[in-house]
Amino acid sequence: DETVVRRDRFSGGPAREFLSSLAGDSRIFDADLAVDRAHVVMLAEQGIIDDDVAGEVLGALDDVESAGHGDLPDGEDVHEAIESAVIDCVGPDGGKMHTARSRNDEVATCIRYRLRADLLEAVETTLALRESLLEAAAEHSETVMPGYTHLQPAQPTTVGHYLSSYAAAVGRDTARLLDAYDRTNESPLGGAAFAGTPFDIDRERTAELLGFGRVVENSMDAASARDFLAEATAALAIHATTLSGLAEDIVVFANKGYLDLSDDYSSTSSIMPQKKNPDTLELTRAVAGDATGELTGLLTTLKGLPRAYNRDLQRAHPHTFRAVDAVVEASSIAAGAVATADWNAEVLAAEADAGFATATGIADLLAMAGLPFRTAHEVVALAAEEAEHSDDGVTAAVLDAAAEDVLGESLFEYVDEKSVESALDPAASVASRDSRGGPAAEQVEASIKSA
Ligand code: ARG
Repeated sequence: DETVVRRDRFSGGPAREFLSSLAGDSRIFDADLAVDRAHVVMLAEQGIIDDDVAGEVLGALDDVESAGHGDLPDGEDVHEAIESAVIDCVGPDGGKMHTARSRNDEVATCIRYRLRADLLEAVETTLALRESLLEAAAEHSETVMPGYTHLQPAQPTTVGHYLSSYAAAVGRDTARLLDAYDRTNESPLGGAAFAGTPFDIDRERTAELLGFGRVVENSMDAASARDFLAEATAALAIHATTLSGLAEDIVVFANKGYLDLSDDYSSTSSIMPQKKNPDTLELTRAVAGDATGELTGLLTTLKGLPRAYNRDLQRAHPHTFRAVDAVVEASSIAAGAVATADWNAEVLAAEADAGFATATGIADLLAMAGLPFRTAHEVVALAAEEAEHSDDGVTAAVLDAAAEDVLGESLFEYVDEKSVESALDPAASVASRDSRGGPAAEQVEASIKSA
């Protein structure tokens, strides 16, 4: 029989291992069984195969499922191996399973089916991370901390404001993953090799049985398209990039004593007994490299491929599966580290007071009193320069001297001493910045509530 002849002709040789995706296909073993079942049911419903043949094939698929991926006969891939196992079980009629389809639409369907579940897991992980960020933010809506630009002390803010900023970013990451899910959730099954089939198949029916939102209309597009992989991997790489920034901050904050990581999320040194290191966050930071690498590998594989199916595609989806595994793990580790970290309010408050981080608030105060902001900036900059080498830092007196130099009149012509003292206080400074989305507690609390 021709099948046997062809199997013999292409079954050996030194390239066998290189050609085979069987081992890696364990990831889509369950998906392939689902796709086979849906296809067989549809074939029977359409009268393309007999009900009793369909019944035997479905029974054989149950046996294949119980035996597991590891028990499959040798084959070029999971699709071929499962078909061989079905034929071994029910005889030549088992070969009717592959009527009106090709491995090209089959594998594309399996990848989408499996990736849907993986993307939902990624979505859930980002939701859990966002929740732990928001919970910690709510607890610390009034915990003053130094805020940075260029990693230099900039303006005081709060831990709540800081963590909410990441909750917002993670919220967008979730939305991007859901977008990718939506375009993954389309069924290519029935596109056949790329050119459709003369059989009277019902593509909507298999799409429905497999829970897809709709079919990929054009049969050539159905077998060829992998942009859903690129979109999913990009969304994952973007989330990994978000995580890397958060992880970097936490590493820096741990260094400065702003927070203590829980022992569960720390590691030690094999030689230095006193060490408690933020290794989990360092690894989280590094996962952005993995995810970006997978995205780059994927896009480079897809670039310039001719229509329709090319075997290059066998090496495309593993990039996405590796990316989703790495990113889901990193995201849930980040959630745990955030949820269990202890923020040191006293250290944070002292540090928020250092480096004249309230300078902008003083300039704002003068500008509110009518001075052009640029002139106010000049007064405060001079005071900052004067105070650089004094232990007392910037005081009302230092500011007054600077005002005399720049304006030729006293600071207190514009503002009273009490409001200057208050603007120099980090907590009062934070409370004053109550513009929409600002760090004042009521703004942060409102944003947590709406999140
Ligand atoms: N295992 C292949 C893949 O993952 C599917 C097989 C299609 N093979 C073929 N020669 N058309 O892409």
